[in-house]
Amino acid sequence: MKFSPLPIALLATVPSVFAQNLTFLTGLLQTLQNAGLTQLASVGTQLNSTTTGQYLLAAISTGDPYVLFAPTDDAFSNAPSNVTSDLSNLFAYHLVSGNFSDVATNYPNVTLGRTLLNDTNVVQLEGNKSQVLAWAVRSDGKTHILNQANESVVTNMISYGNLTINVISNVLSYPQSFVNTVPTDNSSLTALQSTLNGVNVPYYNASTSQTSDTSILTIINSSLHGFTLFAPNSSALESMMDSLQSLESNTTLLQIILNNHLINGTSVYSSELVGQNYTSAAGENLAFSINATGQYITSGNTTAHIIQPDVLLSNGVVHVIDRVLLNTNSDASAASSAVASATSAAAHSTTETQPIGFSQTATLVSHSGASHGAKASGSKSSAPSIFGGPDMLQIITMGMTIVGVLVGGLLTVA
Ligand SMILES: *[C@@H]1O[C@H](CO)[C@@H](O)[C@H](O)[C@H]1NC(C)=O
Ligand SMILES: *[C@@H]1O[C@H](CO)[C@@H](O)[C@H](O)[C@H]1NC(C)=O
Ligand SMILES: *[C@@H]1O[C@H](CO)[C@@H](O)[C@H](O)[C@H]1NC(C)=O
Ligand SMILES: *[C@@H]1O[C@H](CO)[C@@H](O)[C@H](O)[C@H]1NC(C)=O
Ligand SMILES: *[C@@H]1O[C@H](CO)[C@@H](O)[C@H](O)[C@H]1NC(C)=O
Ligand SMILES: *[C@@H]1O[C@H](CO)[C@@H](O)[C@H](O)[C@H]1NC(C)=O
Ligand SMILES: *[C@@H]1O[C@H](CO)[C@@H](O)[C@H](O)[C@H]1NC(C)=O
Ligand SMILES: *[C@@H]1O[C@H](CO)[C@@H](O)[C@H](O)[C@H]1NC(C)=O
Ligand SMILES: *[C@@H]1O[C@H](CO)[C@@H](O)[C@H](O)[C@H]1NC(C)=O
Ligand SMILES: *[C@@H]1O[C@H](CO)[C@@H](O)[C@H](O)[C@H]1NC(C)=O
Ligand SMILES: *[C@@H]1O[C@H](CO)[C@@H](O)[C@H](O)[C@H]1NC(C)=O
Ligand SMILES: *[C@@H]1O[C@H](CO)[C@@H](O)[C@H](O)[C@H]1NC(C)=O
Repeated sequence: MKFSPLPIALLATVPSVFAQNLTFLTGLLQTLQNAGLTQLASVGTQLNSTTTGQYLLAAISTGDPYVLFAPTDDAFSNAPSNVTSDLSNLFAYHLVSGNFSDVATNYPNVTLGRTLLNDTNVVQLEGNKSQVLAWAVRSDGKTHILNQANESVVTNMISYGNLTINVISNVLSYPQSFVNTVPTDNSSLTALQSTLNGVNVPYYNASTSQTSDTSILTIINSSLHGFTLFAPNSSALESMMDSLQSLESNTTLLQIILNNHLINGTSVYSSELVGQNYTSAAGENLAFSINATGQYITSGNTTAHIIQPDVLLSNGVVHVIDRVLLNTNSDASAASSAVASATSAAAHSTTETQPIGFSQTATLVSHSGASHGAKASGSKSSAPSIFGGPDMLQIITMGMTIVGVLVGGLLTVA
C-alpha cells in the first residue's frame, strides 16, 4: 500500500485538544524525509486528522523519550492494505515509551516496551493497559521484532531529540486473539487449541448475567482481560494425549490442570518472570528459574522449559512450554485472592516508561519481594529438590501415575 505523497504542510481537519510542539514535529518530519522514510513522514502528516493521531503527535513532541519503529518505504509498499488501513492504531503500535539505548537482549531473553496502542477494540489487557512490543537480537546478530508473520528487523538507528528511530524492514502488525494467532504464527499450539476447545466448563458471563457451558478456548480467546498462559506445545500434548483423554470424564480435574497453566488477571512477560513466583488460576504456586539453558517454570512436580516466550495476544500473553504441567492440586481461595490482588494492582498501575522488567542499566531488576498474589507461605511444592533431583521423565511419570489413580486406573501411558 502506498500513501499519496503530501507536502510537509500538515492537515488540520480536527481541532486539536492536545498541545503539540510544531517546531519539534516539523524537524522530525524533515529528519524522516532526509532518512528516506517518506511514507512514514506522510503517515505522520495524515495523523493530525484524527483525535487519536493528534494525541500521538502531542505525546511524541513532549520531549519525553520514545522509540519509534520506523518502516521503510519498501515496508509500506509491501504491507497488506488491512494492516495500513487504521493509521492511528498502526502508528500507536510503532511508538514505545522510554529510552532503550542501554538495553539489548539476546533471544530467548526479550526486551519489552509499552506502546501507545490502547484502543479497546484491539487491546483488552488488564487495567486498560496499552499493548506491548517485544524484540530481541537473534543468532544472526540482528534485532528482530517478535510475533511478526512478516519478519521485521532493525536495519538502521537514528535519533531526533530524545526520540530513537529504529528503521525496520516490515510494517508491524499488532497482537490478535488466540484463535487468530495460532494459525498464522504459532502452529506449535494447534493441539492445545483443540484441547481447550474440547473442554466445556460452567462460565458466568457478566454481560448477560448468565452461567452457561463455555469452552475454555472461548474463555481464553475473549472473556479474559489480562492473563498469562503457559501453553504446552503440540508434541508435549501429544505425548500426554492418552492420559488427558482418560481425564475427559472428569472435567473438574481437567480444568484444574489447565488452570495450573494460567495466571488470571495479569499479563506477565518473560522479563518479569525471573526469580518470581506467581499464583495459578487453580491457586497453586508457579515458580520460575533461569540459567544458561533458558527459562523454566515449575508447578507441583513438573518443571517445563519455556521454549518460546512472549507470544503476545490482544488480551494477554502466552509462553510456549515443552511439557504439560500435570498438577492436580488446587486452592480456590488462593486463586480468588490472587485475582483480586492482580485486579487491584492493574487498576493502580501507570504506564511504564522504561523497559518492562529491566532496570535502565540492562541488568534484570531484582524484585526483593515475596510471592505475587496471596498464596500463603509454606508452599506445597517440592521444587528445590527437583532441581537436583530425579530426571524429568520420572517426574512426569510420577504425575501421570497420580492422575491415573485419580481417574480410576484408566491411564494408558506410564
Ligand atoms: C494539527 O491540527 C491542529 C488544529 O486542529 C493544529 O493546531 C496543529 O498545528 C496541527 N498539528 C500539526 C503537527 O500540523
Ligand atoms: C519544542 O521543540 C524544540 C525542538 O525540539 C525545542 O527546542 C523546544 O524547546 C520545544 N519547545 C517546548 C515549548 O517544549
Ligand atoms: C531530553 O530529555 C532530557 C531528560 O529527560 C531533557 O532534559 C531534555 O530537555 C530533553 N530534550 C529534548 C530535546 O526535549
Ligand atoms: C489482514 O488480512 C490477512 C489475510 O486475510 C490476515 O491473515 C491478517 O490477519 C489481516 N491482518 C489484520 C491486522 O487484520
Ligand atoms: C538471559 O538473561 C539471564 C539472566 O540475566 C542470563 O543468565 C542469560 O545468560 C541470558 N541469556 C542470553 C542468551 O543472553
Ligand atoms: C489511551 O491513552 C490516552 C492517553 O493516555 C488516553 O487519553 C485515552 O483515554 C486512552 N484510551 C483508553 C481507551 O484507555
Ligand atoms: C538515552 O539515555 C542515555 C543515557 O542513559 C543517553 O546517553 C542517550 O542520549 C539517551 N537517548 C535518547 C535518544 O534520549
Ligand atoms: C474428579 O476429580 C476430583 C478431584 O480429584 C474429585 O474430587 C472428583 O470426585 C472427581 N469426579 C469424578 C466424577 O470422578
Ligand atoms: C478469572 O478471574 C475472574 C474474576 O475473578 C473470574 O470471574 C474468572 O472465573 C477467572 N477465570 C479463570 C479461568 O480462572
Ligand atoms: C509430587 O510428588 C510427591 C512425591 O511423589 C507427591 O507426594 C506429591 O503429591 C506430588 N505433588 C503433585 C502436585 O503432584
Ligand atoms: C518460589 O517457590 C519455590 C518453590 O515453592 C520456593 O522454594 C521459593 O522460595 C519461592 N520464591 C519466592 C521468591 O517466593
Ligand atoms: C537449567 O535448569 C533446568 C531446570 O531445572 C535444568 O534441567 C537444566 O539442566 C539447567 N541447565 C543448566 C545449564 O544448568
